[in-house]
Amino acid sequence: MPSCLIEAHDLTREFRVAETPEGFLGGLRGFLKPRYRLVQALAGASFRIDRGEAVGYIGLNGAGKSTTIKLLCGILAPTRGRVTVAGIDPHRRRLENAGRIGLVVGQRTQLWWDLPVRESFQLLRRVYRVPLAAYRANVALFHDLLDLGSIWNTPVRLLSLGQRMRADLAAVFLHDPPMVYLDEPTIGLDVLAKAAVRQFLKEINRTRGVTLLLATHDLRDLALTCPRVLMVHRGRILYDGGQEELLGRYGQEVQVVAELERQAPPFTLPGVSVLRQDAGRLEVVFNRRSVPVAAVLAAVTESCPVRDLSVREADLESIVQRLYGGDRR
Ligand SMILES: Nc1ncnc2c1ncn2[C@@H]1O[C@H](COP(=O)(O)OP(=O)(O)O)[C@@H](O)[C@H]1O
Ligand SMILES: [Mg+2]
Repeated sequence: MPSCLIEAHDLTREFRVAETPEGFLGGLRGFLKPRYRLVQALAGASFRIDRGEAVGYIGLNGAGKSTTIKLLCGILAPTRGRVTVAGIDPHRRRLENAGRIGLVVGQRTQLWWDLPVRESFQLLRRVYRVPLAAYRANVALFHDLLDLGSIWNTPVRLLSLGQRMRADLAAVFLHDPPMVYLDEPTIGLDVLAKAAVRQFLKEINRTRGVTLLLATHDLRDLALTCPRVLMVHRGRILYDGGQEELLGRYGQEVQVVAELERQAPPFTLPGVSVLRQDAGRLEVVFNRRSVPVAAVLAAVTESCPVRDLSVREADLESIVQRLYGGDRR
C-alpha cells in the first residue's frame, strides 16, 4: 500500500456571500440588486498526509479548518485545485469515501438522541456491517479506554457533553476506519474530559495506526497527540512541521501587558519586543529561555508607575502573530 493517504494540491474553496447594505440603503434592501463578495475560506493549500500519521490542524476561528475537513470528506467541492484520499476524489466518489472515513465534530453528535449508547452502537454495527468479533473486540477496548461502562445504558440526550464526546469517539472508531477527521473535538469540554479525548486519540493512533487529522484552536490538544502540525491562517498554510519545533520556538514565549499610570518613555530591553505602547498600555513579548520573566517585570515597573500587570503564556494568537511577521489584524 502506498504510504501517502491524502494529497492536496492548491486546494481552494471560495464562497459567495451577499453583502448586507447598511444605514439608509439598508432600508432599500428589498429593492436593490444584491451585491456579492468572494470569501476565500481556503486559498491554495498543498500538503500530504501519510498513513498512520496524527496531524494537528491548528488555526484561529475562521482560519479555514472546517472548510478543509469538509473538502477532505467530500461534503464540499473545491473551487480550484485537487485532493485525493486513498487515491480517490472524495467529492466525486462521496459514498465510497464515506465508507472508509470517520468524522467527529465537537458539540454535534452522530448518535441517536433517544437511544441508549448501547443501542446506538448496535445500529452502527449494522449500518457499517462490522463483523461480530471485530465489534466485540472494539467495544471491549473502548470500554477500557473511554470508560463506557458508566454511560452504556444511558440515552444520549441525558449525557453530559464530555460523556457524549466519549460515546461519539467510540462510535466513530467502531468500524475501524483508516482515516478519522476530528473538528474541534475538545471544544466546550472541561479539563478532565479534554484529557480523556487526547489520551484516547493518542492510544488509537498508536495501537491501531489510524490516521488522524485533528482540527483545533487549542494548542494543548497537540501536545500529547500530534507530532506534526499544520497551521492554517486566512486560508493559507502558514506552517507545516514538527510540533516540538513549533512549540519549542514559540511555546516558550511570554507576553506581559501593563496598564500604565501615565505616558512612559519608549520601553527597551534586549531580547524583548514591544508589541504596542501608548499612553495607557504597554505590551511586550519575549522568550523566557533568553530573558527571565522577573527581569522583564522589574524593567517594566521601573520604567513607569503601573496600575495593573498581567503575564500570560504564548497562545495560538501570539504564535500566529509571530509567524505572520507582526501582522496583528
Ligand atoms: N458556507 C459558507 N458560506 C460563506 N462563508 C463561509 C462558509 N463556510 C465558511 N465560510 C467562511 O470561510 C472562512 C473559513 O471558515 P471555517 O473553515 O469554518 O474556519 P474555521 O473552521 O477555521 O473556524 C470564514 O471566513 C467563514 O466565515
Ligand atoms: Mg471550524
